[in-house]
Amino acid sequence: MQLIIDSANLDEIRELVDYYPIDGVTTNPSIIVKEKKNFLQLLEEIREVIGCKRELFVQTLADHAEEIVKEAKYIRENILDKLVIKVPVTKEGIKAIKALSEAGVRTMATTIYTPLQGYIAAKAGAAYITPYVNRIEKLEGNAVNVVKEIVQIIEKHHFNSKVLAASFNNVQQVHDVCLVGAHGVTIPPDILRLCFSHRATEANVKVFIEDWQKEYGEKSIVDTNKIKI
Ligand code: G3P
Repeated sequence: MQLIIDSANLDEIRELVDYYPIDGVTTNPSIIVKEKKNFLQLLEEIREVIGCKRELFVQTLADHAEEIVKEAKYIRENILDKLVIKVPVTKEGIKAIKALSEAGVRTMATTIYTPLQGYIAAKAGAAYITPYVNRIEKLEGNAVNVVKEIVQIIEKHHFNSKVLAASFNNVQQVHDVCLVGAHGVTIPPDILRLCFSHRATEANVKVFIEDWQKEYGEKSIVDTNKIKI
């Protein structure tokens, strides 16, 4: 199951890649503009931080299939290594996904709200299908069910696509989509940190160290070993 960072912030990406088993970084136009940097330069810097083995997801902006394909070509000429082109699943977007897939370009079908949008994107050849969990919930939809049903459609009909769930506003949403079989999640840094920590864990570690120090006066096992008791 893939674990992806949904951010273009270099400091956040650097820290999270250092600490957690991260598979890649997703961006979209709204995420990119927050960094107030040159688009290609920012992408190159992200690539430098994540290395060539992690996937970098970059979204097109155009609203006509031919323009989307042109933008995808431009991004691919400038950003090397494992790159996935994100395309929103409008009618034009599906046409572009179809053309890009036929040309061997890996795509992510994004802004997905329904299982049938997921189906048509998988059928068009998208490598990743990305339902927007929190945004579905904000519309009073059952986001976990949408994720579950897209996974079912893909598995039942043997599509090659993977469901990479996105748009998370809390830990519970991430937990829920993991349980219904999402093949991956892309999570913003603040939620990602919350997912993998618990204050009881921190408290337990503090007590282990205090107990050890009380007995041996040292904080490190290596140093303790040098003391003759
Ligand atoms: O990757 C999609 C994501 O960036 C959308 O998230 O939180 O803006 O709904 P959000």
